[in-house]
Amino acid sequence: MYRHTADPWHLAERWYERRKYDLTVAALPQEHYRRAFEPACSVGELTRRLATRCDTVLACDRVADAVSTAQQRTSEFPQVTVQQMTIPEQWPEGTFDLIVLSELLYYLDAATLNSVLEHTVTALEPGGTLATVHWNHPVDEHLSTGSGIAETLARLPGMHLLADHRENDFVLQIHQRLRPDGSRPPTPAEREGLA
Ligand SMILES: C[S@@+](CC[C@H](N)C(=O)[O-])C[C@H]1O[C@@H](n2cnc3c(N)ncnc32)[C@H](O)[C@@H]1O
Repeated sequence: MYRHTADPWHLAERWYERRKYDLTVAALPQEHYRRAFEPACSVGELTRRLATRCDTVLACDRVADAVSTAQQRTSEFPQVTVQQMTIPEQWPEGTFDLIVLSELLYYLDAATLNSVLEHTVTALEPGGTLATVHWNHPVDEHLSTGSGIAETLARLPGMHLLADHRENDFVLQIHQRLRPDGSRPPTPAEREGLA
């Protein structure tokens, strides 16, 4: 798809995409994150929004042309690094307090999906946030709909489902890694002593 155009899904122009990205970052429960990982970043439109909330963002895509476009579109943000990487075969060192899996998981077969989710939970710090987003209409090359993947994600061991936003077109979920004592992290209101 990237052979014919730099941005095959018109991610920067479509109001549908821009609204969904804004909803995604608005749903993140912490105002600020230290180290985020965004695999399958495509041309970096969600990456740009994550940059405003994170000290550092590591974004990657398996397609070199997408990486190059994402590097250009995030060049004003020195805290963003974009690398060519295919997950889960390639996975970054270290841990993250935010991982974003947006419009990726429906491409993965069951074994690869399990591996990606295992890597994700392991790389997420206790109390860290996992944001997941998926298109919800059937597509020939998608192995599952958003709702199907959301059911799997809602049962992830070691994780707490904080938010589950359903629309006809997409599903957005916010998951949090449980703390070592098995408790969930505080809600945004609890963090500020409101609840
Ligand atoms: C539909 S785009 C999603 C872009 C972006 N995450 C968003 O939400 O708008 C899917 C992207 O996933 C990338 N991709 C697919 N499988 C991948 C993998 N195993 N590792 C890294 N990137 C992958 C593709 O190259 C493509 O750029």
